[in-house]
Amino acid sequence: MKNFKERVIIALDYNNLDSAKDMLERLKGEALFYKIGLELFTSCCDKSVKLIRDYGCKIFLDLKFHDIPNTVYNAVKSAGELGVDIINVHASGGVEMMKSAKKGGMEAADKIGKNIDIIAVTVLTNLSEGDVRDIFYYSKEKTNPDGLNGGCGNIVGNLALHLAKLAKISGLDGAVCSGYESVEIKKVLGDGFKTIIPGIRLKRGNYAKDGNAGNAAAGGVRVDDQKRVMTPSMAFNSQADYIIIGREVTASNNPIEALKAVYNDIERFAGN
Ligand code: C5P
Repeated sequence: MKNFKERVIIALDYNNLDSAKDMLERLKGEALFYKIGLELFTSCCDKSVKLIRDYGCKIFLDLKFHDIPNTVYNAVKSAGELGVDIINVHASGGVEMMKSAKKGGMEAADKIGKNIDIIAVTVLTNLSEGDVRDIFYYSKEKTNPDGLNGGCGNIVGNLALHLAKLAKISGLDGAVCSGYESVEIKKVLGDGFKTIIPGIRLKRGNYAKDGNAGNAAAGGVRVDDQKRVMTPSMAFNSQADYIIIGREVTASNNPIEALKAVYNDIERFAGN
């Protein structure tokens, strides 16, 4: 697969700049794209953006905005002006909110003179079929007719696809989803609508086609708090534009070797 290093985003989930800098040093020259999430941004604010920019790397500012349209518009505009490459909002904030996010992003992009992708979060990869049912009051009988737990064709898949459609209607550039929904989202919304896939684990486990992490865990895969997980190559074979990897690299005893193992998995098993 060509240029895949530009499509692997490392999550710097730390509460201080020293730890983030340490990881940037360890992965220098190999990692090209980083994610700043709620933990790093609320701890270190825009200093975290500057730090990564000083290493010449791209930035996904993952603050998952969800508020009234005017607030999200202003927040995305301010975030964009920091010089980041991707910003996200929750699709469940609705079309008007997402349109406002896009407007704020475009204005920031004009001001700083570079493209900013505005991406919608669909269904978080730590949520299972049962979790989504509990949150949205789905009844078990109605929503699980085929006996599967997750994946397109039932609750998680349908909800992720629906939210991705709202994102597309709103003019957003793509969606965060698990690899179990990515193919269907691309099929329905077109290849130009980007998918970003977190919940990446290196071990080739007994991944079920329904994306139920219980099966992955049973196969010996360390899933932590994630539920809908898959390997880097599986995610790219599910048409991901980007994958996000956190603990698999950053919590490893040898992060650079772990990152190389990620690249190796992609080179060996991902198609074009
Ligand atoms: O690879 P790991 O499980 O450590 O990944 C965690 C990262 O993925 C976190 O930074 C988390 O915020 C992010 N994530 C995400 N979107 C999701 C689920 C997780 O960006 N839907």
